Amino acid sequence: SSPSPVLPANTSLYARQLLSNPPASHSAAIESAISKLQLLAHIEGGYFAETDRDALLVPNPFQHLPALANPTATDDSPTRHASTTIFYLLAPRSPVGYFHRNRGRTVHTLHRGRGVYVLLHMDRRDARTGKVPVETFVVGHDLDKGEKLQWIVEGGKFKASFLIPDSDSDTNTPATDTDVDGQPGSAAGLLISETVVPGFEYADHDFLTAETMRDALDPAQLHELKWLLKR
Ligand code: GUN
Repeated sequence: SSPSPVLPANTSLYARQLLSNPPASHSAAIESAISKLQLLAHIEGGYFAETDRDALLVPNPFQHLPALANPTATDDSPTRHASTTIFYLLAPRSPVGYFHRNRGRTVHTLHRGRGVYVLLHMDRRDARTGKVPVETFVVGHDLDKGEKLQWIVEGGKFKASFLIPDSDSDTNTPATDTDVDGQPGSAAGLLISETVVPGFEYADHDFLTAETMRDALDPAQLHELKWLLKR
């Protein structure tokens, strides 16, 4: 028997449409958030700004680990900043945070919008299939629907995220309604804060590769999730 689909039904349609047919410009709301928060394009996809880097240095718990397979940088310093915090935004023009992992544990807090998170639990195997368990959940403000306002990603887990329509409660169809500024409900994007402990360094960061993804997942799940691989 093949494993059940991992993504909530049809939630990927909106982001995949945006990727294949990107809007020519940001909405006024997105433009304003990017400018007010001084956000820059992130290599993971989306936009970010580091808002805090604790001056306190702590022993680097990762110093003696083998280097990551494809680290964005190398660094085996004996210390790390105690924590860092960023704003992170997914917007229609950059609606996906592609699969990557950080060695540090990350606390996420939602400010605006709605999205889907996908976690690959690389430290576990399904007893029956031998494949890596996949976890998905919706982040949003509808607590009655089980959407999350806060979520934790333990260090070492691969993570991807994508934008879903915010004001349309029916995820089967992309939002067609408009909000106050005449933009679709997701026009303000998915805006969160992330705090990493110990603080973020590129040496502690890597992207999922096609090979690792192929080994980790069942073919049906691979087919469903491969669009979240950074190319
Ligand atoms: N610089 C580039 N990417 C990041 C990130 O994800 N977090 C922090 N704190 N700084 C970064």
